[in-house]
Amino acid sequence: MFSLPLRDDACLRPLEIWHAEEFAAHMDRAREHIRPWVGAAFVTDDLDGARATLRRYAERQAADGARLYGIWLDGVLVGGVMFVSFDAAWGSCEIGCWLEPAAEGQGLITRACDTLLEWAFTSRGVHRAAWHCRADNRRSAAVARRLGMTREGVQRESWPYGGVRHDTEIWAILAPEWHANGR
Ligand SMILES: CC(C)(COP(=O)(O)OP(=O)(O)OC[C@H]1O[C@@H](n2cnc3c(N)ncnc32)[C@H](O)[C@@H]1OP(=O)(O)O)[C@@H](O)C(=O)NCCC(=O)NCCS
Repeated sequence: MFSLPLRDDACLRPLEIWHAEEFAAHMDRAREHIRPWVGAAFVTDDLDGARATLRRYAERQAADGARLYGIWLDGVLVGGVMFVSFDAAWGSCEIGCWLEPAAEGQGLITRACDTLLEWAFTSRGVHRAAWHCRADNRRSAAVARRLGMTREGVQRESWPYGGVRHDTEIWAILAPEWHANGR
C-alpha cells in the first residue's frame, strides 16, 4: 500500500473507508482539541460518523476533488492533512489539517502539507493553494507561514462557533512562489 515516510517513525497514507474504526478511535482522542477550529461536519461522535467522513472524501476523490490523508506515528493514526477542495480545471486547491494533542509540536503537519503542495504544484499543475483558519488559531497560521504562504486577508465574522462569529484568515501560496522557495 502507498505510504510516504515523514520521518523514521511517522508516515503519510491515504485515509480510506476501511480505516473507519481506527479513525473513530483517533477522533475520540482528537475531538475536543479540534472542535473549535475545524468544520463541524468533520467532528464526528461515533463509528458511523467516522465512516461517513471517509466516504464523503472517497466520493470526492473519485471525481478528482477533495482528498484525505492520515498521519501514522509509531503505527497509530494521530491526525492528517487534506485537500479540502481541489479543482484542476480552475488551477486551485485548499489545504487543511488536524492532529490529536500528543502529536503536536513535532513538525509532522508542515512536512505532510509540503508533500501535498509539491504534488499539487508539480504533478497537477495547480496555480494557487489556499489555507483558511480562524483568525485566533495561532498554531494553524504558523503552519501556513512555515509553508511560505501569504496572509491575504480576513473574512470578517464568517466562522460561527460557540455563539460567536469569528473572523477567518485566508492564506495562500502561488506556484511561482512555491518553486522560487526551492521546492
Ligand atoms: C493546527 C495544527 C495541526 C498544527 O500542529 P503543529 O504541531 O503546531 O504543526 P506542525 O506539525 O507543523 O509542528 C510545528 C511545531 O513543531 C515544531 N517542530 C519540531 N520539529 C519541527 C520540524 N522538523 N519542522 C517544523 N516544525 C518542527 C515547531 O517548532 C512547531 O512547534 P511550536 O509551534 O511549539 O514552535 C494543530 O495545532 C491542531 O491540530 N490544531 C487543532 C485543529 C486545527 O486547528 N486544525 C487546523 C484548522 S485551520
